[in-house]
Amino acid sequence: MHAHMMHVQAAPVGAATPPPCRDNHLGDTMARDFLFVLGSSRADGNTEMLAHKAAEQLPAGVGQRWISLAEHPLPDFEDLRHDSDHVRPEGDAAALLLDATLAATDLVIASPLYWYSVSAHVKRYLDHWSGWLRTPGLDFKRRMAGRTLWGVTALAHEEEEVADPLVTTLNHSAAYLGMRFGGVLLGNGSKPGDVLNDTAALARAKTFFAQEPPLARYPYETAA
Ligand SMILES: Cc1cc2nc3c(=O)[nH]c(=O)nc-3n(C[C@H](O)[C@H](O)[C@H](O)COP(=O)(O)O)c2cc1C
Repeated sequence: MHAHMMHVQAAPVGAATPPPCRDNHLGDTMARDFLFVLGSSRADGNTEMLAHKAAEQLPAGVGQRWISLAEHPLPDFEDLRHDSDHVRPEGDAAALLLDATLAATDLVIASPLYWYSVSAHVKRYLDHWSGWLRTPGLDFKRRMAGRTLWGVTALAHEEEEVADPLVTTLNHSAAYLGMRFGGVLLGNGSKPGDVLNDTAALARAKTFFAQEPPLARYPYETAA
C-alpha cells in the first residue's frame, strides 16, 4: 500500500483552516474558480458533454478552466518519496496541472468510467498528487484542504452502482486531503453524444454544482 495512504487521520491536517477565497455557496460573492480536468482518451466524449451541461449552470462570475489530460499528458509517476525530495515541476504538463490545481477552489474530475474506475489519465494525475504532497515548499495538502472535489463520469452500463469504485476513489482522495466532496454526476452512454439522451442525467446536471458539499469522510468516520 502507498505509504502516505497508510497515514490516515480522523481530522486531516488543515481541515480546520479556512481555504483561500472560498465560501460554500455558489451565490456568495467569494471568488470561485472551477478547474475541469478532462480524463477521457477522446475529445468531445460523453463525460465532457455532461460536464459542460453542469458547467453551463455556473453563474457568470465563476471562473472555469478546462484542461484535457490527453492533450497535456503527464509522465508516468515516479515514486521518489523515500529516496530524495520531489522538486516542483517547471515548464511541462505537470507544472501546468499543478498550477491550475492550486488555483482552483473547485476541482472537477471528469473521467469516463474505464474498468469501473477512473481512466488511466486521471489515475496518473492523482498519482502525481503524491509527489506534490512531498514537494518541499508546496504545502499541497494544507492548500487543498477545504476546497471541493467533484466528479463527472459517463458509463455504458445502465446500472450506475458499477461506478462505485470511481466514486469511492474520488471520495477517499478528497478525504485524504481534507477536501469537500460534491459527489459524482453520472450519465449513461457509449458512443459520443449518447449521454444527451440520458434525460435524468441532464436534469441532475442542472443543479449538480448548486449543492453545498460536506467535508469528505472515510466510511469509518462518523459524520461531523
Ligand atoms: C478502456 C475502456 C474501458 C471501459 N470500461 C467501462 C466500464 O468498466 N464500465 C462501463 O460501463 N463502461 C465502460 N466503458 C465505456 C465508456 O465508459 C463509455 O463509452 C463512455 O461513454 C466513455 O466516455 P467518453 O465518451 O467521455 O470517452 C469503457 C470504455 C473504454 C474505452
